[in-house]
Amino acid sequence: MQCNLAVIKGDGIGPEVVTEAMKVLDTVGEKFGHTFDYEQILMGGCSIDATGVPLTDEAVAVAKSKDAVLLGSIGGNTSTSPWYKLPPNLRPEAGLLKIRKELGLFANLRPANLYDELKEACPLKAEIAERGFDMMMMRELTGGLYFGERHTEEVDGVMTAVDTLTYNENEIRRIAIKAFDIAMKRRKKVTSVDKANVLDSSRLWRKVVEEVAKDYPEVELEHMLVDNCAMQLVKDPAQFDVVLTENMFGDILSDEASMISGSIGMLSSASLNETKFGMYEPSGGSAPDIAGQNKANPIATILSAAMMLRYTFDLDKEADAVENAVKTVLKDGYRTIDIHSEGTQLVSCSEMGDLICERI
Ligand code: NAD
Ligand code: IPM
Ligand code: MN
Repeated sequence: MQCNLAVIKGDGIGPEVVTEAMKVLDTVGEKFGHTFDYEQILMGGCSIDATGVPLTDEAVAVAKSKDAVLLGSIGGNTSTSPWYKLPPNLRPEAGLLKIRKELGLFANLRPANLYDELKEACPLKAEIAERGFDMMMMRELTGGLYFGERHTEEVDGVMTAVDTLTYNENEIRRIAIKAFDIAMKRRKKVTSVDKANVLDSSRLWRKVVEEVAKDYPEVELEHMLVDNCAMQLVKDPAQFDVVLTENMFGDILSDEASMISGSIGMLSSASLNETKFGMYEPSGGSAPDIAGQNKANPIATILSAAMMLRYTFDLDKEADAVENAVKTVLKDGYRTIDIHSEGTQLVSCSEMGDLICERI
């Protein structure tokens, strides 16, 4: 199969982890007889430096012309980088929001599970880690606070900032349908997370999710308030199968879910629209504190590439091969710094990539 990808290496550790994911894809190509063609585009701080904007319309057009996008991460240190002196619409993150919106990537899938081999790296009590967990965070990605009207102005001599949180029923319905479809292929449970005790948008969210649930009688639906969910994730993560939530809650809860899996460096993600197209990226950021040191964990990006094989190209066998190679490398005791513990073998980002390729 010929697979045409746009590649966005981005900023910070982005280029390091994407290089490893490309190595893995090329190995899959050799082993299984596929060709991966890459066209690189700029997004984030590197695009600001080269073009003055975080994402050009030309780059969007290239992304749209491909089967999928492989992304590293964008952004810098938000306290010290000069990019954060620019107006908000010219900062690195504006590029990421623009590409999500332009490509209609409303469904963000972030699978969080605890590998047996990483129980040591899980910060939860041993008896909780022992039970393990395997959940799919489903985050709405093109609505809510991220895309609402916002401004800052002086009101009666007082500086006032406004961000608005809007959802319409169609935006809620399409992500809910995706969540129930995915639940049907898993353990048939959806936990819909909201703040319906306070927010109108959450009350509409609950109503629409309940309507969608009627078409999936086999799937158990429960509603959970977001503050309780944050607590339940550390108390009893095994209770969750599919967690369905809006944009900002999903951003925060998925970082929490990543840490109980061992590290943000383990959490992959797929951002999908109604078609087979997708953008695949680690859930974490550009990690400016470790960038350029060949220390980052490339596994989240490599597992994101596996999600691409599965969701965009229907190459299930190949995706299994990548996921099994990751499991084997962990079983063999190799760890990057973020998941390293006594008795395991510390390796660099590029060594981890090589070790995974050897096991495909
Ligand atoms: P971050 O996720 O970049 O880093 C948080 C912590 O996790 C850091 O200590 C970092 O070293 C560690 N970490 C992250 N990924 C790692 C990996 N693969 N291996 C090992 N350790 C890893 O979050 P932050 O520091 O809050 O944000 C830094 C920048 O990244 C900001 O500009 C932010 O906007 C941006 N960001 C981008 C994306 C994206 O491109 N999708 C996602 C999140 C944050
Ligand atoms: C993520 C990131 C982004 C988000 C930022 C960089 C805009 O944190 O992909 O989780 O909040 O969506
Ligand atoms: Mn995030």
